[in-house]
Amino acid sequence: MARDPVILPRGLTLHRLVSQAISAFDAHGDIVRLALPVPVFCLRNPDHIKAVAALTRKPAIMQNADWFMGSGIFNDLGGETWHAKRRTLAPLFGDDTTARHVGLLPDSLERMGSRWTRPVDLYAEMCRLVVCLTAHAGFSTWLNDVDLDWLTAAAKRAESMFVSPVPWWLPTSSNKRSRADKVRMVQMFGDFWLSASLPDAAPEAMSYFFGAHAMALTLFWGVRAAFMRPAVLGALRDDADGSYARMFLNEVLRLWPSFWGSLRSSDSIEFDGMDFPGRSVFAMIRVAAQRHPAYWPDPLRFDPERHAVRNSCPHAVMPFGLGPRMCVGRSLALAICTQAIRWIVQTFDMTIPPGDMPLRYGFGMYPALPLVAHALRIR
Ligand code: HEM
Repeated sequence: MARDPVILPRGLTLHRLVSQAISAFDAHGDIVRLALPVPVFCLRNPDHIKAVAALTRKPAIMQNADWFMGSGIFNDLGGETWHAKRRTLAPLFGDDTTARHVGLLPDSLERMGSRWTRPVDLYAEMCRLVVCLTAHAGFSTWLNDVDLDWLTAAAKRAESMFVSPVPWWLPTSSNKRSRADKVRMVQMFGDFWLSASLPDAAPEAMSYFFGAHAMALTLFWGVRAAFMRPAVLGALRDDADGSYARMFLNEVLRLWPSFWGSLRSSDSIEFDGMDFPGRSVFAMIRVAAQRHPAYWPDPLRFDPERHAVRNSCPHAVMPFGLGPRMCVGRSLALAICTQAIRWIVQTFDMTIPPGDMPLRYGFGMYPALPLVAHALRIR
């Protein structure tokens, strides 16, 4: 087997590990091994990612997330228990579910728009929007302002805790707070719309809530991308049949997939003529694949039109994952994000500070700095 370069980690935060792997790809090629107690192979070639995505087993690395969310479909480590959940849940995320969420979206959008009379933190606003919608559509709850702010802040705290190096069972003050957050969330999520179809609904309600929360990132990167580029904004506003919006969203999800990557583990496995030992962990770094210069000319340029022609590789863009564990909420997310972005650009003008936004890799792919936007209602 052609051996892959081994990189000594320069720090153990997830952000540092992911950043280091991404910069190592350019210097060392498409497979980079991190020298950690278990062999971790970071992948950016879409074909390698496709080979590994066919595995359904996940490593038990994110133990804080597993503890907080419980063993719902999102955190189930694989095997027959995961298969059973997938068989039950996937059919429940069909057209009816999408239509119900889309039908309730205008209420959440209008509520958000009514707050935009002063400068706003754009990511925090997209989180509030998605939390408001998921509580309404998923848990039949129209949150009051206090509970909306609480749940939005609690989701943010939870996502930091999922990737914290401090294990959940240590009695630190922030772990005690996480425990209290979890108890209150489980109470709030009691009326999950799928409860009647599921033997154990609480962890699936968590999977739904945190899975759907990924939409806040797509909306943040999308709204920012639209208002920073007058030509793109004009094309979105003139887009009568939605065809430009589809390309636009594809490009947003290519450059800023809400989840930078996914993990898999396996017994020994072979692909592309290489053997990998048992207990290997694979980090499928989709953000690197989707910015791979061999598949995307001028990869960092934001250009929705590049999706008008077929890419040489059918899975060069994979924001919802690939293979059997691909996102169950994909259609729902595409419908909601498309409609929300179209409504925002038709209803508001927005001033966004110019310049690049640094990234922070955590549970998702976040803006590293707050972005304050000034919105003006035009309709
Ligand atoms: C733009 C928004 C979204 C993005 C980018 C996204 C992306 C992803 C990705 C990358 C995965 C993991 C695939 C893997 O491990 O290979 C995933 C899984 C999942 N997503 Fe989404 N997702 C989004 C929205 C949603 C929504 C709206 C829901 C629910 C309403 C949802 C529910 C789930 C669930 C339950 C899983 C676990 C599936 C399994 O392991 O079998 N996601 N999503």
